[in-house]
Amino acid sequence: MTLNALRQTAEAMVKPGQGILAMDESTPTIGKRLKAVGVENTEDNRIAYRTILLNTPGLGEFISSAILYDETIRQSTAEGEPFPELVKRQGIIPGIKVDTGAKALALNAGEKVTEGLDGLRERLEEYVGFGAQFCKWRAVITIAEEKPSRACIEANAHALARYAALCQEADLVPIVEPEVLINGAHTIETSYAVTVETQRQVFEQLYRQGVQLEGMILKPSMVISGTECPQRSGVEQVAEATLRCLQQTVPAAVPGVAFLSGGQGDEQATLHLNAMNQMAAKLSLPWRLTFSYARALQNQVLETWRGDASKAEQASEALLQRAKLNALASLGEYAP
Ligand code: 13P
Repeated sequence: MTLNALRQTAEAMVKPGQGILAMDESTPTIGKRLKAVGVENTEDNRIAYRTILLNTPGLGEFISSAILYDETIRQSTAEGEPFPELVKRQGIIPGIKVDTGAKALALNAGEKVTEGLDGLRERLEEYVGFGAQFCKWRAVITIAEEKPSRACIEANAHALARYAALCQEADLVPIVEPEVLINGAHTIETSYAVTVETQRQVFEQLYRQGVQLEGMILKPSMVISGTECPQRSGVEQVAEATLRCLQQTVPAAVPGVAFLSGGQGDEQATLHLNAMNQMAAKLSLPWRLTFSYARALQNQVLETWRGDASKAEQASEALLQRAKLNALASLGEYAP
């Protein structure tokens, strides 16, 4: 595949009026989500839940691509249709999370570095065989007293860049996800400073590893006050600070920025994306701005379903509705 093909896939992932469905929860993480609605974390339940998501009629209108988990890309629905086939039948691009999780960073208590580079070249080849066209790798940066450390930012930026280079070598578009966590009492100003520094380091490392910016997607967190901060940031403030941060750090060659929701409320995540796209129209920014949400798309689906097969249709409708509202927000056309 040439750079042109990578660019075409990346552009299709951030097509106007569409966003990305993140449904790549690892087995322990999906277990937490299922437990919260009283569902046991069994393979059958995970298949049933993910079938509800991907079987949603009309999902391909608002969702360009879906990020799957290693288990899911190998499984089939109860009717016997392999998940990657179901994704493609919906007109959605299949992708896969390839990191193996954020682990304790040595000598830096309370900080994490994402692992998964060992054997990645071989795993990518296997995922291409399953039909994956893009990948995801998430790094987490924690804000606290004396945190993040330089060690944490640099180790994570380096790993993201090495992952992205391996993806492009295998003709896969890397989603590069440096998440600055919302947890903590930090102000929006601190979130801004840490996010700018993180994204600068990430693009420095991507450049050093030779990653072609036209063939990648950035998946950042929004610049926002911490969940414990007494001064909560408003919608306009978040949109303005996040755009300013992107302008300071993201080269124009990157085709798209697809935000994570990071524990914001469903409605809040939609409002922030909408406000950014409204402001972006006046700034003529070089990148598409859309969503790559997991929780902010799935919360209502889980609440509605609660393991009850008779609620599957209603649960699908909840997903379609949330996807539609975020698709409108990706155009700056959401009217609450
Ligand atoms: P949230 O939208 O729930 O933050 O998840 C996005 C994601 O893919 C995290 O890696």
